[in-house]
Amino acid sequence: MTKGIRAIRGFRDIPPEEAWKLSYIEDRTQEHFQRYGYREIRLPMVEFTELFARGIGEATDIVEKEMYTFLDRNGQSLSLRPEGTASAVRAYIEGGWKSQHGITKVYYSGPMFRYERPQKGRYRQFYQLGLEAIGGAGPLVDAEVIDLLHRLFLVVEVQDVRILVNSLGCGKCRPDFRVRLLEYLTGVARELCSNCRRRMESNPLRVLDCKVPGCRSALEKVPVMLDYLCAECEDHFSAVREALDGLEVPYNVDPRIVRGLDYYNRTAFEAVCDRLGSQNAVAAGGRYDGLAKEIGGDAPGIGFAMGLERLGLIMNWDDVVPENPDYYVAAATSSARIPALELGDRLRALGFSVEVDLEDRSLKAQLRSANRMGIDSVLILGDDELSGGTVTLKDFVEKIQREVPLEEFMKEVMAAGTGPERR
Ligand code: HAM
Repeated sequence: MTKGIRAIRGFRDIPPEEAWKLSYIEDRTQEHFQRYGYREIRLPMVEFTELFARGIGEATDIVEKEMYTFLDRNGQSLSLRPEGTASAVRAYIEGGWKSQHGITKVYYSGPMFRYERPQKGRYRQFYQLGLEAIGGAGPLVDAEVIDLLHRLFLVVEVQDVRILVNSLGCGKCRPDFRVRLLEYLTGVARELCSNCRRRMESNPLRVLDCKVPGCRSALEKVPVMLDYLCAECEDHFSAVREALDGLEVPYNVDPRIVRGLDYYNRTAFEAVCDRLGSQNAVAAGGRYDGLAKEIGGDAPGIGFAMGLERLGLIMNWDDVVPENPDYYVAAATSSARIPALELGDRLRALGFSVEVDLEDRSLKAQLRSANRMGIDSVLILGDDELSGGTVTLKDFVEKIQREVPLEEFMKEVMAAGTGPERR
């Protein structure tokens, strides 16, 4: 027997029982983003590898070892996108989107690909909802983006997410900090894990983020960027914090936030939830004023991306009811099969969602199905109903059953409003 073909490790099927939750999050989130003036963009899932190498940084984990990279038939190196920011900025430059109003606000939603070790909340294909405000350098843009993120958690009623904010400085003040950091790291190098010792050369800032306990204790007194900010970065960070305080956004300054992508400068932030375990970031982002220059343009920007599956894991779904079909049309006799399908179509034309039995099953079996699908109203058609021009209405919630003239029922239904508006 041929061995069954399975999905690739880290690439999950999302069954209907879970997919509706992701769609629910997407809908609520997109409505929320739109309230702040963000508009949807759709970006390619494959880009030239060079975009990510230059944009995200050669020495990042993502580019070094997590990208799905391949040669196409032309011998060009392409990669499945590991994130959306580099593509959004590329599209901004390539499309000449620089708007007269200054800031271009866009959002995107879709799968991203990273060859990471799969675990709870971490997959090789995962879904992100992200937004980018490109073209604005001022601190109020940062504050609005973080405020928007905070309020998104209110919209989806997740209470225990903490927002952590840091400043990563700029090209002016970071080199000096890097020197101090390297001095310190060299002093404690023997206590650091092999990964951190390697990182010291290529990307010393990432050492701050190491979760290995030995490194944690060696880094207790490590210098942090916040103490080395230049006057401009200091002013920017104070102005962001002042605006967040004014907007009553709860947050903590966490000098250990360094982020795993190289394009960040100044404001960086994460939204974390302890219930997620080790992969505790639900959303993360920051400012990337130098990214456009790396890929052939020039524009400041800031944004964040949220992991859809991770938000799904921490939301309370008890009070969010999936949208079950409105009606089940049951045929009590075989001559009622086609009329049942017709009635289904009439109701669908009014905007309702309707299930009709397609398997010629007994009435009892059809009622059981309706119940299992969470459908409260069943419409029964049998020989009596067909000859009398009626329909029998069975309501599982009200626990009533009555026979009514079909056209009267249709009028009642129309008066109650059609599907989409009614929802
Ligand atoms: P990131 O921190 O790499 O940032 O990813 C953002 C979010 O995507 C994470 O906080 C997490 O919720 C989710 N995520 C990342 N990797 C995985 C994975 N393997 N499985 C499940 N979820 C995951 C970025 O991607 C930046 N582009 C964010 C950004 C936008 N910065 C500025 N604008």
